Amino acid sequence: MASRLQVLAALASTALGLPSPIVADPPVRILPFNWDFKITALDGPGCPDFGQVNPPFTTRPTFGSNTVDGSEIYYWHFAYPHFRASVGPETPEASIWCETTLSYTELNSEGVAPEVPEYRLQLHKNGTEFLASYDLEEGVEAKWKVTYLTEPQYKIDDELTVTGPRAAGAYHDYTDSQEVQWRLPQCGTGTIRYRTELTLKAKKEGASGTVSSEKVQYAGRSVFYGVQQGVSYDWSKCDL
Ligand SMILES: *[C@@H]1O[C@H](CO)[C@@H](O)[C@H](O)[C@H]1NC(C)=O
Repeated sequence: MASRLQVLAALASTALGLPSPIVADPPVRILPFNWDFKITALDGPGCPDFGQVNPPFTTRPTFGSNTVDGSEIYYWHFAYPHFRASVGPETPEASIWCETTLSYTELNSEGVAPEVPEYRLQLHKNGTEFLASYDLEEGVEAKWKVTYLTEPQYKIDDELTVTGPRAAGAYHDYTDSQEVQWRLPQCGTGTIRYRTELTLKAKKEGASGTVSSEKVQYAGRSVFYGVQQGVSYDWSKCDL
């Protein structure tokens, strides 16, 4: 918030036609003209549909989002319609997992990879985001674990625990962000692999719970839209 003194100073300098001392420069943004993430492989019971294009509610990239305030936090989201698990009196524990391989490509104004890429992607600027539906009774715990398998010797583990009761509905959560980022070995392109696992446990006998995604109508049927996982990143300029 500008203090009264600063506001007066700003008015004065505007009147004199001088640059205002309090109008901040627009935040410096570091990003390529465009970029693309493709799913190149899927493995596991949570994503049995690699390569299926019809119907559209397959495991797929969905949308990107980013801050514009200088914090430079970018997300790309991936939807997993087969990702769901339930516990109840007969099944006190359930889990599901998927391992996703992504290929990342920097794109220029012509929509192709530039000959000399200018940016290096850095994974894990912020925590992992989850958009999912829950219905958890008291005593049920849902635990998400994402392991980014970046290099043979290097891993980032993200965890999020949701403890019931949690009323039926759609929720938006983040794992606790860690101060760890992984710079892709090359500029302009790279492979990102991560394993996502959801474990549901009824810690109280007979308690029930479900984690899934919202249902949408498609071609006369009710289908799962997909749990969405947001993967966070930013860029640094390559040393040319
Ligand atoms: C970054 O993560 C925190 C939680 O750790 C979350 O509250 C915040 O909204 C995230 N930022 C963005 C831009 O999504």
